[in-house]
Amino acid sequence: MFNFDYYNPTRILFGGERIADVGKHIPEDARVLITYGGGSAKKYGTLEEVKKALAPRDVLEFGGIEANPRLDTLLGAARLAKEKQVDFLLAVGGGSVIDGTKFIAAAAHYSGDAWKMWTDKLSPERVLPLGCVLTLPATGSEMNATAVVSNPARAAKVGYKHPSLFPRFAVLDPHKSFTLPPRQIANGVVDAFVHVTEQYLTYPVYGKVQDRFAEGLLLTLVEEGPLTLTEPENYDARASVMWAATLALNGLIGAGVPQDWATHRIGHQLTALYNLDHAQTLAVLLPSVLQVQKADKQLKLAQFAERVWGIRDGNEEQKAQAAIGKTRDFFEDMGLKTRLSAYGIAEDAIDKVLDNLERLGVLPLGERGDIDKTAARRILSMSY
Ligand code: NZQ
Ligand code: ZN
Repeated sequence: MFNFDYYNPTRILFGGERIADVGKHIPEDARVLITYGGGSAKKYGTLEEVKKALAPRDVLEFGGIEANPRLDTLLGAARLAKEKQVDFLLAVGGGSVIDGTKFIAAAAHYSGDAWKMWTDKLSPERVLPLGCVLTLPATGSEMNATAVVSNPARAAKVGYKHPSLFPRFAVLDPHKSFTLPPRQIANGVVDAFVHVTEQYLTYPVYGKVQDRFAEGLLLTLVEEGPLTLTEPENYDARASVMWAATLALNGLIGAGVPQDWATHRIGHQLTALYNLDHAQTLAVLLPSVLQVQKADKQLKLAQFAERVWGIRDGNEEQKAQAAIGKTRDFFEDMGLKTRLSAYGIAEDAIDKVLDNLERLGVLPLGERGDIDKTAARRILSMSY
């Protein structure tokens, strides 16, 4: 196992009726800006519940943060937060709203160009504290310090991480996920699954605790994920998926082990260029990344085959191959297509994505840094 630092200050308020408790974790005299997305938080009553829990504080609202949050929208919210002297941000929504709110927190009092801070990984100055009420289990943003923002003017989607961006608290009420449409349920399960594999399907370093945690999360997603589609109001299944998705990317399973992230980094550019949902890009790319990197990942792939998919027959190479097939089948069973052609994306996308990866300085990728432009091209070609 590698040496590591593990730090995670986010308080989790898990279970039914927990929105009522948010007031206990925000200063009494704070002026709060509630941020939300395209309307689901309003439509299903979550916004009203949150406002009630914040009373009698001074509360402002900023709605309209879109999926794959955009720089121009977020800069508007950051200006509002500064002008109105907001002292606390409360995000109500999925990963896009939470990520967008992290950007607002860092940009509101930033004296320079906030997009440059983001792309050049500069430290923010005064960061506003934030909390969140999660409505879509998927990204893990509720308990990590990462955020991803899109800049359509540059056709780019860029991630950023800073310890000041951990939410102070996150409300995880599984009931809030009952209203998700099937596409977003599937997206969430696949995203969480791929977060685990990015930290698990690398090479062995005797990270026994991390491996067993990762396998537990993967098995939970495989067992409970389909239930959340067929029984949308099954609280236990929703609770299992919600907690699994949070634990998949709160730093725990990735501490002390190698990490890949090639699927995500390439996927972000597919979203930036073709507006695919984040999880759609992952469903397409993960099987190809595993295929191209199979020799390097073979030991962990065979372990994954045995412990997650119950594959006992064959040699290591055959087990690894069978596990890649099972993974693709799982994504398809959840309702996500796993080929770029199935999303109507022509093959000229390969060069466009590669150009973006080069321009943004993202290459080389992978746990060994061996996915160069040639390997990335093979991964993309294999995704049709
Ligand atoms: O906008 P509204 O009306 O709220 O609708 C949303 C949105 O259309 C809807 N939704 C959310 N909760 C709902 C609901 N509809 C009904 N009932 C509910 N309870 O779902 C749609 C998608 O929401 P979004 O927040 O975009 O989805 P997700 O949580 O999958 O977030 C995706 C974003 O997170 C980034 C992705 O790149 C993408 O931009 N990621 C963030 C990460 C992080 N911070 O660590 C890691 C991830 O790998 C990922 O990159
Ligand atoms: Zn993801």
